[in-house]
Amino acid sequence: MQDAFLVLDLQSIEAQLGSRELCRNTTNEVWLEIGSTNTRALELARVEGRTDFFVAARQQVAGRGRLGRKWETPRDAGIAFSLLIKPDFDTQQLSLITMAAGVAVARAIEAVLGFKPGLKWVNDVVYNGRKLAGILAEMNGPALVIGIGINLRFDDVELPDDLSQKIEWLERIVGVPVDPNILVANLIKQLEICIDELAKGNQAAITSAWKVYSVTLGKDVEATAGNLTLSGRAVDIDRDGALLIQDAQGEQHRLHAGEISLRMADGSYC
Ligand code: BTN
Repeated sequence: MQDAFLVLDLQSIEAQLGSRELCRNTTNEVWLEIGSTNTRALELARVEGRTDFFVAARQQVAGRGRLGRKWETPRDAGIAFSLLIKPDFDTQQLSLITMAAGVAVARAIEAVLGFKPGLKWVNDVVYNGRKLAGILAEMNGPALVIGIGINLRFDDVELPDDLSQKIEWLERIVGVPVDPNILVANLIKQLEICIDELAKGNQAAITSAWKVYSVTLGKDVEATAGNLTLSGRAVDIDRDGALLIQDAQGEQHRLHAGEISLRMADGSYC
């Protein structure tokens, strides 16, 4: 029986990869159901020594988010995608890699669906204050996995109240069915462009592209990193992807990791 909507499909993605190198001439995977695409990709890199491939899934049952959180990918409601590479650039600053992936996601969405999402430091892709996609970059030895979860269609998914106020999905925004394969193929192209910039040592290309989509800079924020909490204005990002926050006393703080909430016009935080 044919699916009533467009679903992730390996052949369809690979047919659209064109002449670029990343993820070509390699074994990619699309799963109906998996624990976590990040875990699977890291395992393949460790056991088989492979690189430059992707693992995607229509459903994750043990999806992982940042800071040890869970990431929900109910069947065909989201896109779970992990790209595995063995980079020859500096991977000390995972925040810059996360931002590069954010730029790639934002560009792919804009190119394929025609609207401009926002980037919230450090790993959130948002729309109208709600989370549309998240990024989890992880290292294991020489292997770097860039895991991306994109909310596609959550209309039929029962969400707990706290989550339903916080998330957004592509089909609700554009109002028509979205082909996840076109989006993923474009995402691979955009990731390749961003990875090439990092390999050339051109961090500025990433930080300036990130600023084009930023919904962070210029906003009042509350930041947490471990036990540290901090309030102030997000004023800039540095070349490594750290967020510069200026507190009420005018002192600047550099945040390399952690997360922030943005103060909205009505005084609430998201
Ligand atoms: C976050 O916002 O906390 C990051 C979420 C990252 C989720 C993606 S889905 C594909 C990949 N596999 C995982 O287990 N996690 C990432």
